[in-house]
Amino acid sequence: SKGYFTFDPGFLATAACESQITFIDGEKGILLHRGYPIEQLADNSEYLEVCYLLLFGQRPTEKQYEQFKETVTRHTMVHEQLIHFFQGFRRDSHPMAIMVAVVGALSAFYHDSLDVTNERHREIAAYRLLSKMPTLAAMSYKYSMGQPFVYPRNDLSYAGNFLNMMFSVPTEEYIVNPIVEKAMDRIFMLHADHEQNASTSTVRLAGSSASNPFACIAAGIACLWGPAHGGANEACLAMLEQIGSVERIPEFIERAKDKDDPFRLMGFGHRVYKSYDPRAKVMQQTCHDVLEDLKIDDRLLDIAMELEHIALTDDYFIEKKLYPNVDFYSGIVMRAIGIPTSMFTVIFALARTVGWIAHWIEMLQTPGQRIGRPRQLYTGEAMRDFPTTSRQK
Ligand code: SDX
Repeated sequence: SKGYFTFDPGFLATAACESQITFIDGEKGILLHRGYPIEQLADNSEYLEVCYLLLFGQRPTEKQYEQFKETVTRHTMVHEQLIHFFQGFRRDSHPMAIMVAVVGALSAFYHDSLDVTNERHREIAAYRLLSKMPTLAAMSYKYSMGQPFVYPRNDLSYAGNFLNMMFSVPTEEYIVNPIVEKAMDRIFMLHADHEQNASTSTVRLAGSSASNPFACIAAGIACLWGPAHGGANEACLAMLEQIGSVERIPEFIERAKDKDDPFRLMGFGHRVYKSYDPRAKVMQQTCHDVLEDLKIDDRLLDIAMELEHIALTDDYFIEKKLYPNVDFYSGIVMRAIGIPTSMFTVIFALARTVGWIAHWIEMLQTPGQRIGRPRQLYTGEAMRDFPTTSRQK
């Protein structure tokens, strides 16, 4: 503490809110959503049920769940006019660039859900975002491929519908592979929420001024994009490609340890976890299952496993408690199921939307909620007189 304010750049020691949604014990590698361990949710639940849990605080009854799924399904179409918005982008735009803009633009399309003081408006906006993210995400991919947009299908699961919008073409029938569908659902679930990470904190701060929900989620997407956060899954795959072979791993381990070299192991290290990220463990298992089921032999997986092995036995990584995080294996799974690298962070955003919304709603429901407004320690010039003479030559 320096003077009146607590000085905590990067928020290493500051709790900015109270929350009942997600608990993390970083030392022990524990992650709970509404009290339930992530491993048990991964084994016994599915993404939309976890969405319900995060949003409403408890597991749905059968009837509540059917109703919830039906409402999510009924909101999957986007306003037809949005197609023109997409068409304004260059074909080679990064899909995350499109997502930041398009999700923010939803505020211009759905005027009946913008009053954040109205509980019903908040709920409609929550459903809209949850339902439309897969549609928008798939559209950003189709646009980059020069292929026609695919309308959502209400007879498919949340993950199945997304895959269909990503991969089906008018010329032949696309049948969703159940292994791929399950893997996609699991990837969504493992990314659903992670308490006050940078993007969720961004959504809370944006929402604290009573900004509309679509604008707030766009702010979250912008924050997620960076390679230190959600962009790490894309960066991790690029890194594995760059390493190229198991023999070259030691060279890159040495580079990651070198303070003068900007290279870092992508998908390694975490602000909160000082042991194995429990999501990475589940993802690693999923990765093996999927590659085996699909009979895929991926040299990048060999590199990833060897890299993990070497890093976990290296003094530098042991001392600094650097373990693989959720982004380390997710890229290999997504690659195995045919998702292009540029879509990895978009999928993280799609899946995290429910967490962002749950936190946004929780914040707005908190009695006495105030605008977020950090202070600073000013280190600039002291007060001085502005010269009355002419500018220096
Ligand atoms: C996500 O917060 C969340 O919950 C995020 C997330 C979520 O679900 O929302 O879990 C998702 O963002 C996962 C993280 C994805 N990012 C990466 O994989 C990028 C690589 N990792 C990092 O850059 C880093 O570890 C962070 C950003 C994840 C954490 O940053 P911190 O907490 O500010 O820690 P730091 O950068 O200060 O690292 C501490 C030390 C440093 O060395 P010293 O200065 O103390 O000597 O560890 C070193 C770092 O140089 N270090 C690494 C390293 N990560 C940290 N050294 C080599 N390779 C790495 N990956």
